[in-house]
Amino acid sequence: MPKIEVAWDEYLNETTDRLPDGLLLTSLDPEGKPNTMAIGWASIGIVWSRPMFIVLVRHSRYTYECIEATGDFTVNVPAPGMAEAVNFCGSVSGRDHDKFAECGLTVGQSQTITSPYIDECELVYECKVVQHTDVVPENFAPEIIDQFYAGGDFHRIYFGQILRTIAEEGFTGRD
Ligand SMILES: Cc1cc2nc3c(=O)[nH]c(=O)nc-3n(C[C@H](O)[C@H](O)[C@H](O)COP(=O)(O)O)c2cc1C
Repeated sequence: MPKIEVAWDEYLNETTDRLPDGLLLTSLDPEGKPNTMAIGWASIGIVWSRPMFIVLVRHSRYTYECIEATGDFTVNVPAPGMAEAVNFCGSVSGRDHDKFAECGLTVGQSQTITSPYIDECELVYECKVVQHTDVVPENFAPEIIDQFYAGGDFHRIYFGQILRTIAEEGFTGRD
């Protein structure tokens, strides 16, 4: 589906509104195979005077290995009707599944980074990792660690500088 370049901050609300249903974080595995997973926690804004997509990836995810290998990722805002694909990509691992093939997703070639995007998605951010940091368990408020890290498996936080944003022409962010 043809997309046009847009300003990184043109669709902030349309992007964050979709977080509860899941966005798709896409990268390449160490062999160069595209992989994607659902994300529900993220932040978009300005850090170090640069537009930034900040995502949290648990160390157990295959995506963690992928981003470590590529140093970049895309954040894809799914189109209406993609809920089944998002749930699938958020419940199985790219270690065991070719999610692009099984969900019928089309690889889109990014212009500024190596990680591809998902052509069926309506809005895409191409992001280069400029910083990563692991959460520090002893720095959490107890209610957060109790609720989200009872089993360990802490998150790595990736700061992805947004290098390019593309959207389908006429994208409104509404179903
Ligand atoms: C709606 C939704 C949101 C999710 N958000 C996150 C997230 O922000 N960070 C994370 O590490 N896992 C998150 N997950 C879980 C991963 O998407 C899931 O474990 C996925 O199977 C990992 O795939 P991978 O092993 O190919 O990386 C979410 C799952 C769903 C369904």
